Amino acid sequence: MQTRAEITGWGKCVPPVSLSNADLERLMDTSDEWIIERTGIRNRQLSHVETTDLAELAARRALACAGMDAADLDLVVVATCTPEILCPSVAAMVQHRIGASNAGAFDLNAACSGFVYGTSVVAGMIESGFAERVLLVGAEKLHFAMDYRDRGTSILFGDGAGAAVFEASGDGAGVLAVDLGADGGKGGTMLIRSMGSMGEPSATNDPAIHRLHFEGQAVFKIAVHGIAASAVRVLDRAGLTTDDIDLVVPHQANARIIDSATRRLGIDGDRVFVNIADLGNTAAASIPMAIADALEAGRVSPGDTVVLTAFGGGVTWGSIALRWGDRTEPVGVHDGELPPTEMTALDLLQPNLAFYAPLHADEPPVD
Ligand SMILES: CC(C)(COP(=O)(O)OP(=O)(O)OC[C@H]1O[C@@H](n2cnc3c(N)ncnc32)[C@H](O)[C@@H]1OP(=O)(O)O)[C@@H](O)C(=O)NCCC(=O)NCCS
Repeated sequence: MQTRAEITGWGKCVPPVSLSNADLERLMDTSDEWIIERTGIRNRQLSHVETTDLAELAARRALACAGMDAADLDLVVVATCTPEILCPSVAAMVQHRIGASNAGAFDLNAACSGFVYGTSVVAGMIESGFAERVLLVGAEKLHFAMDYRDRGTSILFGDGAGAAVFEASGDGAGVLAVDLGADGGKGGTMLIRSMGSMGEPSATNDPAIHRLHFEGQAVFKIAVHGIAASAVRVLDRAGLTTDDIDLVVPHQANARIIDSATRRLGIDGDRVFVNIADLGNTAAASIPMAIADALEAGRVSPGDTVVLTAFGGGVTWGSIALRWGDRTEPVGVHDGELPPTEMTALDLLQPNLAFYAPLHADEPPVD
């Protein structure tokens, strides 16, 4: 039987500081009702540590779940669009910290589609025989780019990390088909211009340039069409229909997008995993965190057909069809935690509020 890439370990790292809709009401002209109705989001978690710290803990948890020693990994891939530095990669830092001494390491940036793109790379490496055991992490610290007085963007995003261990399997479980796509011509709808080579050497650090630029309605439409069409293509490639799907784990961008896209596909809500209410949109981290939550909630059974589907900056989109293996329980548990913090969300956001204040000079101050 064909060699496939099977997920044998899963884990997540949710940073401890909560940013609720009530907190956002203090920062901008918005309301809990508006945010819930338009996005399905009630809360997001913010990180007081760096992207690599989140990635490392999610990785350790996924390895324990798989019962695997880090030294047995052949490759570490981190999907992120918010690395704390550009070089070395987050993947190389994670590789060193967890002791994956026999593994290569690199980062991959497909924004919110990063985990789907990463899964396609991992599957290709494993199916070709170039690797047998691969760790794929999605990790983001998105709040650094948020202007928390811009109500059209900052209400959506949160921080976090999720990870999966993939192993070569010969029993039919694993990745069945991949669909990837992009339209760089629409890249201007979601921009983070800081951190690239255009950023650091310049004399000014202009908040108008630094903050996330985002055209919500345009992205919404691209997302609904993109996700539905991509999921149809991946099913076709796998020789499956929507009736065969046991669970869709979509990128958690907006509950309305997930709803519209899955309705277009004719998939009822019972077969869609949604955890956006508590975590918001965590870009490349959202699907692996959702996988971990779905397993914990008992929503995945042995042999299930699972579809992962995402869209994001670039713009990019993609879907994966996979068959779950025999195990839905962790082999082991890593009980490490992030360093504790006493900070509230508003403490943590002070640097953002100060940095973006010049863009809001005409508005009343935050209480
Ligand atoms: C951002 C988003 C939630 C905005 O929702 P929307 O229903 O499109 O809202 P609109 O932009 O049409 O704005 C409608 C009104 O609400 C207002 N509004 C926008 N944000 C608001 C907020 N947080 N609170 C209250 N009102 C808000 C607008 O100013 C506008 O007011 P107006 O009619 O007086 O001009 C939605 O477009 C979205 O989720 N887009 C995609 C996001 C996404 O998935 N991104 C991830 C990419 S991976």
